[in-house]
Amino acid sequence: MINRHLFFALLPVLLALSWLTTAQAAQFVADLDSQWVDLEPSPNDTANLIFNTVYSVTMSWPNRRYRNGHAIVPGIIPAGTLLFHGRGDPHIPVTPEWTALDSELSMLYCGLLSADDKECWLLTLVVERPLRVLYFDGYSGLKFPNGTIDSQDVITWGRVIPEKAQEEPLRIAELCRWGERFGLDGFVRLHTTHEVMLCDFSNGLKIDSLLPIKVPYKFPFPPIPNDTRSLPLDALGMGEILSSKRTDEYPGDTRIQLHFHRLVSFYDLSIAPSLVSQRFGQHRLQHRVLGISQADIVTVKARIEDELVEEKWANPLSGINWSSMFHRVVQYYSGRLELIQLDLNSENDSSNDILRKIFLQLRGMIQPYDIFSARPTDGSADDRSWAKPVHEACATAHTRFISTLKNLTPSERLMGGAIEDTNREICRIITRMWADGVNHNAEDRQCDSDTVGRLHTQWKQDIDGLISWLDWSAWLKCKPACSLEMSVQYPSISFV
Ligand SMILES: *[C@@H]1O[C@H](CO)[C@@H](O)[C@H](O)[C@H]1NC(C)=O
Ligand SMILES: *[C@@H]1O[C@H](CO)[C@@H](O)[C@H](O)[C@H]1NC(C)=O
Ligand SMILES: *[C@@H]1O[C@H](CO)[C@@H](O)[C@H](O)[C@H]1NC(C)=O
Ligand SMILES: *[C@@H]1O[C@H](CO)[C@@H](O)[C@H](O)[C@H]1NC(C)=O
Ligand SMILES: *[C@@H]1O[C@H](CO)[C@@H](O)[C@H](O)[C@H]1NC(C)=O
Repeated sequence: MINRHLFFALLPVLLALSWLTTAQAAQFVADLDSQWVDLEPSPNDTANLIFNTVYSVTMSWPNRRYRNGHAIVPGIIPAGTLLFHGRGDPHIPVTPEWTALDSELSMLYCGLLSADDKECWLLTLVVERPLRVLYFDGYSGLKFPNGTIDSQDVITWGRVIPEKAQEEPLRIAELCRWGERFGLDGFVRLHTTHEVMLCDFSNGLKIDSLLPIKVPYKFPFPPIPNDTRSLPLDALGMGEILSSKRTDEYPGDTRIQLHFHRLVSFYDLSIAPSLVSQRFGQHRLQHRVLGISQADIVTVKARIEDELVEEKWANPLSGINWSSMFHRVVQYYSGRLELIQLDLNSENDSSNDILRKIFLQLRGMIQPYDIFSARPTDGSADDRSWAKPVHEACATAHTRFISTLKNLTPSERLMGGAIEDTNREICRIITRMWADGVNHNAEDRQCDSDTVGRLHTQWKQDIDGLISWLDWSAWLKCKPACSLEMSVQYPSISFV
C-alpha cells in the first residue's frame, strides 16, 4: 500500500456546528398567525442532507468532503465513452476488474502493477451500447473501515462489515453476481477520479487499443521536493490529481448519466428510520450506514432492486431535471447569503449603515414575493405575523408545480420534499429577518444603538444558523480564489 499525502493542502474552515447543538424540536406556538416564524426543522429531519446529496452527487469534491456515502443511484455510461485499464501484462481480464474514466488513474495502476518500468500495458475500451451502472456516492472508492463503503456493504454482504473493507476481489465478484439479474454492467465509485468496476470486459464494450507504455516514474516515489511550486504535478506522477479536478465542480463527470428519478438514499426516513438514533447528535462527517437495523436493510435492498427492474430503465421521466433544479436553488441563494454573512461580520459591525445595507439585500431576495398588501399593522415592532403571505409565497416557490404532479416516482417525491423543506427553511429565516427590517424601517430611519445592536445580534444568529444547517459545499473555497495547482484538498486515497 502506498500512502501519498497530498501537498498544497489547505484545510478548509469547517462551518460552525451551532445549529446542530442549539436546534430544538419544532416549536408549535399557539398563535397560528406567527407560527411560521418559529417552525424550525427537527434535528432528526434529513431534508438538508438529501438536498445536499442531490445537489452534489455528480461533483467529486463535495463527495470527498462528506465521504461516507448514503445514496445509490442507477445510471448509464453512454456509447462512445472510453474506459481505461492499466496492468503489468497484456492480458484482457475475463473476470470482473476495475477500469477508470480517466487515463491518468489507470496509468498509476499500470506503474504499480508492473514488475519493472517496462511492463506497463494500457488497455483502452470503448463503450458500444449504453452501459447500465449503479453509482455509490461519497468517497466510495476509498477502502476505509470507517464508513466510505458501508453502502456497498449493504448490497455486497447484506450488512455492514468494516473488517472486509479491503476485500476488493470478493466485493467486485459479489456485486457483479448480484447485479447480473438486473443486467448491470458495472458499479461506479469515486476514486481519485471515477472508476467503473466492470463485470464483463466483452459485453457492451470493445477493445479500442492495448499499448505498451513507458512509465514516467518509478515506485516507490522519490521524496517530494521541498519546493513543489516549480514542478507540474505530472512530474511527480500525480497527473490523476489534475484529472480529479475536472469533475470537482458542477456538472461533474458528464459521462456518468445518473437517473435521479431512481435515487435511493439512506437518509430517506421512510426506508431507513433506524439510522435516526445512530446519527443523533453526530456531525455529518460521522454519519454512517453502520448500525442500520436488519429490517431496514431488507427494505432498502428491496427498494434498490425494485429500482433496477427492466421497465425502470426504459420508463419515461416526469420531465423534471432534478440536478438542474437543485443547482438553481443553490445558485440563487448561495452568493446572496454569503454576502449578508460577510456584511454581518464586517468591521463596522453594528452601524446603522450596515443594517441598512443588509436590509436592502434581504429585500432583494424577497422581492419576487413582496406582496403589496403584506405590510405591518400598528402592532409592536416584534410582530411579524403580517409577513406570513410573503413567507408562504417564498417557501413554495420551487415546488408548487411539483406538488400537483401525480406521476412522480418515490425518489422524485423524496427529492421534491427535500427541495421544498430546504427552501422553506431558507424562506423562514430570510423573511423573518426582512420583516424585522421592515418593522424597524431599516431603510430610512436612524435606529437607536440599542435597536441596532439587538437586530445585528439576532440577524447574525439567524444567518449563521441557516448557513450551518444548509452546509453547502459552494461555501467552502479558497478566498481569494485558488490557482489551478492549489486547491482545497482532503487527505488522499490509499492505493491498494
Ligand atoms: C476508524 O474506525 C476505527 C474503529 O473501527 C477507529 O479506531 C479509528 O479511529 C477510526 N479512524 C478514523 C480516521 O476515524
Ligand atoms: C527540505 O526540507 C527539509 C526539512 O524542512 C530540510 O531538512 C532539507 O534540507 C530541505 N532540502 C532542501 C533541498 O532544501
Ligand atoms: C430525534 O432522535 C432522537 C434519537 O432517536 C430522539 O431521542 C429524539 O426524541 C428525536 N427528536 C425529535 C424532535 O424527534
Ligand atoms: C440536466 O441539466 C444538467 C445541467 O444543469 C445537464 O448536465 C444534464 O445533462 C441534464 N440532464 C438531463 C437528463 O437532461
Ligand atoms: C466603516 O465606517 C467608516 C465610517 O462610517 C467608513 O469610512 C468605512 O468605509 C466603513 N468600512 C466598511 C468596511 O464598511
